Amino acid sequence: MSTHDIIKQFEPQQHNLLHILHALQDANPANYLTEEALEQTARHLGVTKSSVYGVARYYTMFSLKPRGKFIIRVCASAVCELLKVNEVIEALEEELQIKIGETTKDGTFTVEQSECLGQCQEAPSMMINDKVHNNLDRGRIRKILQEYRS
Ligand code: FES
Repeated sequence: MSTHDIIKQFEPQQHNLLHILHALQDANPANYLTEEALEQTARHLGVTKSSVYGVARYYTMFSLKPRGKFIIRVCASAVCELLKVNEVIEALEEELQIKIGETTKDGTFTVEQSECLGQCQEAPSMMINDKVHNNLDRGRIRKILQEYRS
C-alpha cells in the first residue's frame, strides 16, 4: 500500500496524527518515517510540516532513520537498572556487535533504550517489536536472539 493510500484511511483531523504515523512506520519494512511520509501527513491534516516533525521526534517509538526488522527496546528505568540491565545491554551489544541506537549490518536488529515497560516485577525486561521478554540474563538473551534469527 502506498503512503498516500495509508494516509487516506484516516479522516483529516489532527487527533489522527499519531495513528497515521504509526500506520506509516509499521508499513515501512525499514521501520521508520520517511520525509515524504511526514510531508504527506502534514498536507493531509492541514498542519505545518514542522509540527508533524516535532511529534515524530518527540515520541521515542518513532524513528526518522532506517532501523532493523526487529526493534529491541531495553528498559533502562530504575528497577531494571537496579537489577543489572547494564549486563543485558552488554550481552546484546556483544551478541549483535552493535551499540545502543545502532542497527546490525544485515538490517535484522536495532537496539534502543526505553522507559519502564511496566514489567518491573519480572525485570530486567525488553521488548522485541510487540513482544515482551522478562527475567533477562546473558543466557536468555542468546536464546531469544537465536529464535528471532531463525
Ligand atoms: S523499570 Fe524496567 S520494566 Fe519497569
